[in-house]
Amino acid sequence: MSTAERLLTPAYQPDFSGATVLITGGAAGIGRCLTLSFAQAGAQVILADRDQEAGEETLAILSEQGLQAHFIQTDLSDQAQIVQLAQQTRALAPSGLSILIHNAAIANAHSANLFSEDPAAFDQVLAVNLAAPFHLTRLLKESLVQAGGCVIDLASTRAYQSEPQSEGYAASKGGMVALTHAMAISLGEQGIRVNAIAPGWIDTTEWQKGRPGPAHWPDEEHRQHPAGRIGRPADIAAACFFLASPDAGFITGQTLVIDGGMSRKMIYR
Ligand SMILES: NC(=O)c1ccc[n+]([C@@H]2O[C@H](COP(=O)([O-])OP(=O)(O)OC[C@H]3O[C@@H](n4cnc5c(N)ncnc54)[C@H](O)[C@@H]3O)[C@@H](O)[C@H]2O)c1
Repeated sequence: MSTAERLLTPAYQPDFSGATVLITGGAAGIGRCLTLSFAQAGAQVILADRDQEAGEETLAILSEQGLQAHFIQTDLSDQAQIVQLAQQTRALAPSGLSILIHNAAIANAHSANLFSEDPAAFDQVLAVNLAAPFHLTRLLKESLVQAGGCVIDLASTRAYQSEPQSEGYAASKGGMVALTHAMAISLGEQGIRVNAIAPGWIDTTEWQKGRPGPAHWPDEEHRQHPAGRIGRPADIAAACFFLASPDAGFITGQTLVIDGGMSRKMIYR
């Protein structure tokens, strides 16, 4: 089986032709799956990521399927680069931006915590995971209005529950849930819906740079989930398809938890 065949995207394929979608962090992990899924659905995809090599590899994966996207190398911790990304996006979408997906993050949940040596780590996580989505939405709101677009924020179940030593990430994702409803209320009158997805454990192994094969987790790791398995990036892509579709026209300001039921499971030992 080729890598392309293993890179599973949602079973239901909507038609997003004519739409432009900007996906931050679209070069690896869940973002790479979102890039491929929306390109397969006919959208013009712009992926922004700081990792040039991963971005080029994603374009190569698309090209194996006869698809294309625009890769804009961007470090979202740098305000000037956020401004440039917004400018380039407007140029690529003269009729407006249809879907803005804030997916990029410093996704290591433990990188900034109460015991971190580097006091700047907390600010860095907040800058990439929370401030960048705010500023990028601010800079692209007219373009979203023009297209009657929507915004999708990647939060996490860590917005609601924690392991030890995950303060920076948890705060950024809790902030993302609040930013989502705040922006939904501010932008509602202009016809822009803003929703978030809070994933649980999503195994991104085969979507990483270098195209590693799939990971094989022990059965008990799958079975601990009420849904019977660990999550896949395609689970998140399917939810993005729905939230971006007209069928979700009455849904805004919400956070959809996609965690195989883990956060509904009571655990006493
Ligand atoms: N995988 C999971 O289990 C899981 C669970 C909950 C939430 N999430 C969220 O889903 C999203 C994607 O997670 P993932 O697991 O695919 O992460 P990942 O680390 O595999 O991918 C993140 C991508 O963002 C990019 N990125 C990081 N910092 C950047 C910056 N400063 N500028 C531009 N790009 C930058 C990386 O280069 C990478 O391509 C994140 O918001 C994450 O917090 C993931």
